[in-house]
Amino acid sequence: MNKLAPCVFVLFGATGDLTKRKLAPALYALHRENLLPEKFAIVAYARRDKTDETFRTDMKAAIEEFAPKMPTTGKVWENFISRFYYQRGEFDQAEGYTGLRDRLNELDVEQGTPCNRLFYLAIPPEQYEAVITHLGDSGLSYPTNGEDTWARVIVEKPFGTDLETSRQLNRTLLERFTENQIYRIDHYLGKETVQNILVFRFANELFEPLWNHKYIDSVQITVAEQIGLEGRGNFFDETGMTRDVVQNHALQILSLVAMEPPVSLDADAVRDEKVKALRAIRPILREEVAHSTVRGQYAGYRQEEGVKQDSTTETYAAMKLYVDNWRWGGTPFFVRAGKAMPRRVTEVAVQFRAIPQVLFAKMKRENVSPNVLVLRIQPDEGIYLLIGAKEPGPSMNLKPVDLHFTYKDAFPKAHIADAYERLILDAIRGDASLFARGDEVEAAWGLLTPILEAWKSRPGEIQPYFTGTWGPERAAALLGDGHQWREP
Ligand code: BG6
Repeated sequence: MNKLAPCVFVLFGATGDLTKRKLAPALYALHRENLLPEKFAIVAYARRDKTDETFRTDMKAAIEEFAPKMPTTGKVWENFISRFYYQRGEFDQAEGYTGLRDRLNELDVEQGTPCNRLFYLAIPPEQYEAVITHLGDSGLSYPTNGEDTWARVIVEKPFGTDLETSRQLNRTLLERFTENQIYRIDHYLGKETVQNILVFRFANELFEPLWNHKYIDSVQITVAEQIGLEGRGNFFDETGMTRDVVQNHALQILSLVAMEPPVSLDADAVRDEKVKALRAIRPILREEVAHSTVRGQYAGYRQEEGVKQDSTTETYAAMKLYVDNWRWGGTPFFVRAGKAMPRRVTEVAVQFRAIPQVLFAKMKRENVSPNVLVLRIQPDEGIYLLIGAKEPGPSMNLKPVDLHFTYKDAFPKAHIADAYERLILDAIRGDASLFARGDEVEAAWGLLTPILEAWKSRPGEIQPYFTGTWGPERAAALLGDGHQWREP
């Protein structure tokens, strides 16, 4: 068993989708790998009338459905499921929290978990304020048992819906917790391939000298999903692709690609550099929104369950951004995110500048293509580099070929953990480097809020596209200067 400090994981949103699909399987996977503290309990706090026993049965069913490879029998399982407890209470009533506090105190004695608490808010954002406030007012947000104990809170996305609401949420949190107790989750940061962006850039001498506007022509960041709404129509129609994916996942990736080297790998050193990169992005003014962004909606979206019949919510968003600093001045970053695309793929494609054409001027242009470095986040996780090679034969013909590293080949035995496993573990360990800081979240909203407002005032401009295509036709015109979207 490991040496992690004992703790209670207090779950708000126990009956929700996230708990069933991600959190319960992640906790079980950590337990199976012996990575959880030896003294560890999970207490769900929710409205419905349940007992510890019925809650355990629900969690068993969730793991059987969403993580069927892990057995729900045997000693390891029994040990895991016996750590689950259920506490009934309302989110907005103080008595509930007094009950929760008493239950936690009892468990501390029973389990020897001396007041370390990790609160996980897997609830709809409109309930954040009530829960955070009551946690504070009931004294639960403060470590109560000396300096070595802690209370932390993990806040799920969406973190606000625009700049003002994200600021408000930060204020509410900071009235009850200190910044180093707050863990704002963006599950992309828990992905191995996203963490590897930093390693790739700063642990290899080869690319860093080229990593700037002198050698890099443009960067494309794609977050494409093949799926549509999958029963999340109500949520998605209120949210849209920009709030759901661009504000967090895509801009987090962009900040890792664009940032300056941090002075250390400490949470704040890394986040200082990321926030600087985000703040260096040139704001898109209201009058430029039509030229610098494209939003689309797939045909048939309005017939999906939970979607309004006249909805103008975007299921596709693309934008042309400039990181206006000495490293990147003049290099466009094209960002796109969409649902109902031809395939699920997330990647960063870094296109280097074209060579001077003098030597190979007579060859077909597409055969003398510029180098492209692809950081593939998912699937086929790896790094691909497109280079020019001579095609064997009597004449001088060029052909683009691929150098690549894949995780599958390089680490055949490694268990690639789900992002939530890594993030929960880091929060228990007190390492916030893979979580967003308040200023990062606000910088991202600061960039996107004027775009969202401009779109709202011109709902008719949303572009249709067919399911299974790479988005609206107008997206091609966004790029300009001969650039084209990759078809990954
Ligand atoms: C979530 C969004 O944050 O990320 C979903 O709410 C989206 O709409 C999901 O499908 C994508 O995550 P992943 O890990 O499947 O790429």
